[in-house]
Amino acid sequence: MKLLGNMAIEQQELTIAGIRASELVQTYGSPLYVVDQKDLTDRIQTFVTHFSSEKFQTNIVYASKAFTNLYMAQIVAREGLSLDVVSGGELYTAIEAGVDPAKIYFHGNNKLPSELEEAVAAGVGTFVVDNDYEFTWLQEIAEAEGRRIRVLLRVNPGIEAHTHEYIQTTNHDSKFGVSIFDKQTIPFVEQMHHSEWLDFAGFHCHIGSQVFEAESFFKEASEMLAYAKKVEEELGIELNEINLGGGFGVYYTAEDQPFELATFLAQYIQHIETTMEELGIHPEVISIEPGRSLINNSGSTLYTIGGIKETIVGHPYLFVDGGMTDNPRPITYQAKYDAAIATRMKEPIHQTYRVAGKCCESGDVLIKEVDLPKAAPGDLLVIPSTGAYNYSMSSNYNRIPRPAVVFVENGEARVAVKRETYADLLRNDMRMEGGTHVI
Ligand code: LLP
Repeated sequence: MKLLGNMAIEQQELTIAGIRASELVQTYGSPLYVVDQKDLTDRIQTFVTHFSSEKFQTNIVYASKAFTNLYMAQIVAREGLSLDVVSGGELYTAIEAGVDPAKIYFHGNNKLPSELEEAVAAGVGTFVVDNDYEFTWLQEIAEAEGRRIRVLLRVNPGIEAHTHEYIQTTNHDSKFGVSIFDKQTIPFVEQMHHSEWLDFAGFHCHIGSQVFEAESFFKEASEMLAYAKKVEEELGIELNEINLGGGFGVYYTAEDQPFELATFLAQYIQHIETTMEELGIHPEVISIEPGRSLINNSGSTLYTIGGIKETIVGHPYLFVDGGMTDNPRPITYQAKYDAAIATRMKEPIHQTYRVAGKCCESGDVLIKEVDLPKAAPGDLLVIPSTGAYNYSMSSNYNRIPRPAVVFVENGEARVAVKRETYADLLRNDMRMEGGTHVI
């Protein structure tokens, strides 16, 4: 297993930010989500430093769907990033964390009228409009509240990104945004531009997630700028912002070849500057929305190994005390992960194991094949690169409580999210006795 961020090995044992895996589990329980805070803030600064230009303002918008809670939103705010939210719940978390509402972008293909009202009342800075229903509702809400609202329009340039089909977003049949090839789109923009209550500021696009080809992003930028230019000319307007979304691919296993981030971001900026120059278009702000590429490699999950079982065919199963409830990505996207035995980091490889969770579901396999030293019940297993879309997509299937989330930095650990208890599972359950409810 590749050591990431501030991981090290001390006398056979994995440490993260100077703390032994076994100490973390003894103190905070198992399974446990662990976030390497310095690694995260270093990566945030890599984005801020390298996605910057003298020709336009740049804006890094953290896609909070990847991983959010009060602690994380506070870090994002402290580091000066903007924040992308896609629901009333993510918005509520951001506001409670003290994120400046002016720095919030509200996304989503079906924002509920109630969510739009909440967001307008909270003073959300930018609404990324997906369709004309939303536009109509927003206008009504803005008028009722007496507030002007800044909007971007999410458009779909039909760029094919090579990633799992569930996380491609700009093919022509996608549910997100409106197509730039649809003849109705420019009249729609014109309508928004003339709206008394909306400030139409520009376009948003997101081509997909876990995309490794720099070319896909360069092509997206070129197409979006060319389209922006066309709209500016046809409507005689000037656009303030182009938001190019996120989707930058990250490392999970040796099969992945992610970008060297600083180099890629500098090339991306260079490409955008050149394209703007060639087209003669000058939006004031260019934004990107990294989610996975900011948080994923800072997060790891520690599990305790239970039974180890040989079937009559295939690799021996190594059971852990979590599974698809804390990491639904393998069962959902056939996502691949690496692992190591956190207390036997230097022991020689013994055999190929299959790591399975404890849920009543045959597909609850976290890793199909991984080479590990000889494992014994009670050993700790670490799965790195679980920062994104693990905690945020976790569930209580089989009534399994969610693990705690602990941030570690310079030998200190802080609980960001407490472990769920059995009582938490019953929090919203109602008992039968005490009166029937007749509708
Ligand atoms: N901006 C928009 C509008 C998005 O829809 C997304 C992700 C992002 C930014 C951030 O993309 P990222 O940089 O994290 O790739 N649950 C899936 C990923 C779904 C991504 C949804 N949208 C997974 O676990 O792979």
